[in-house]
Amino acid sequence: MAPPVMAARAWLADHVPRPDRPLLNMSQAAPTAPPPEGLRRAIAAAALDDVSAHLYGPVLGLPALRAALAAQWAADYGGTIRADQVAITAGCNQAFCAAIATLAGPGDQVILPYPWYFNHKMWLDMAGVEAVPLACGPDLLPDPDRAAALITDRTRAIVLVTPNNPCGVEYPAALVRAFSALARDGGPALILDETYRNFDARPLPPHDLFDHPDWDARHIHLYSFSKAFRLTGHRVGALIASPARLAEAEKFLDTVTICPNQLGQRAALWGLQNLRQWLAGERAEILARRDAMAAGFAELPGWRLLGCGAYFAYAAHPFGGDAETVARALLAEQSVLTLPGTMFAPEGDAPARRQIRFAFANADRAGIAALFDRLAAFTAARGGGQP
Ligand SMILES: Cc1ncc(COP(=O)(O)O)c(C=O)c1O
Repeated sequence: MAPPVMAARAWLADHVPRPDRPLLNMSQAAPTAPPPEGLRRAIAAAALDDVSAHLYGPVLGLPALRAALAAQWAADYGGTIRADQVAITAGCNQAFCAAIATLAGPGDQVILPYPWYFNHKMWLDMAGVEAVPLACGPDLLPDPDRAAALITDRTRAIVLVTPNNPCGVEYPAALVRAFSALARDGGPALILDETYRNFDARPLPPHDLFDHPDWDARHIHLYSFSKAFRLTGHRVGALIASPARLAEAEKFLDTVTICPNQLGQRAALWGLQNLRQWLAGERAEILARRDAMAAGFAELPGWRLLGCGAYFAYAAHPFGGDAETVARALLAEQSVLTLPGTMFAPEGDAPARRQIRFAFANADRAGIAALFDRLAAFTAARGGGQP
């Protein structure tokens, strides 16, 4: 199978939208607007005035950024998080790859709840690590007891994404704690990808894992600056773990990128220092869009909203065809680009054939209204959404 993002791009290459129906691209979870002006000016100033911004830097990232992130996370989550437990990486995807490099190799296993974030699955495949699929329940949450039953002497980690891509669900703190209990006493490590943590609808903290004095013994936290500060192209993320694990990750990071992007790191640091209020506004806007998506699906005949949060609405379509056929027809007829559930699940998974992911972060209220007009027309053209 082609990587999903590339596959969707190939569909687009063959698509010519009607002039009265411009493309609604709900395929990718990436902000398309630039960072706020202050941040762009800070990047420009660093590029002009800071010679070190053009040179190799420390493999694990700028000390000032590591310290600022540690302080912010400790304030947000509670507990103790030190700068030497934080590494800056070239995006959260690289943080995941680096974490896996410290944990598992060919022949080892990692438990991956699905629907999954496809880049996690792709990296495990490429690393020769067996991704052991754990089907989520109808509420799209993974069950710790079912995960426990999958653990073998080859299991090195369990990966959770919360708020979730692709499902949009926020994992309850008690669920995260139950998974962390599996990781205790020599069990597999718990990798928590919290790329969308800034858009969680709940008050802080979303879980209490950092409260444990030895949290870094088994818990690995991943973060991305791509979404919060719209820095996708600058490639800045974070890997938060024990100093010993970071020393192992350092070998991986040194050989792959030598250091994270220097301008991107300065941008992330400036953002942490200056964009708290701005980010609160971004969060409020994303939560309003989430509400608009939920309201739209509530009115749409036949469709069922399964999860909604972070940047995503995950819905079951009411048609007989499989999700890819529906997604391609939706693009051809209504110029709405989405990704089918089959891109987030093991081959042949039956529920995924009914599921579609809508990445709504770039759609304003008018765009969301247009989406539901088009979905209503698409559904009516198929007899009102009866299977
Ligand atoms: C769950 C998850 N992790 C990681 C990433 C990648 O983030 P980055 O741009 O920091 O590599 C994404 C991007 O869509 C994501 O959804």
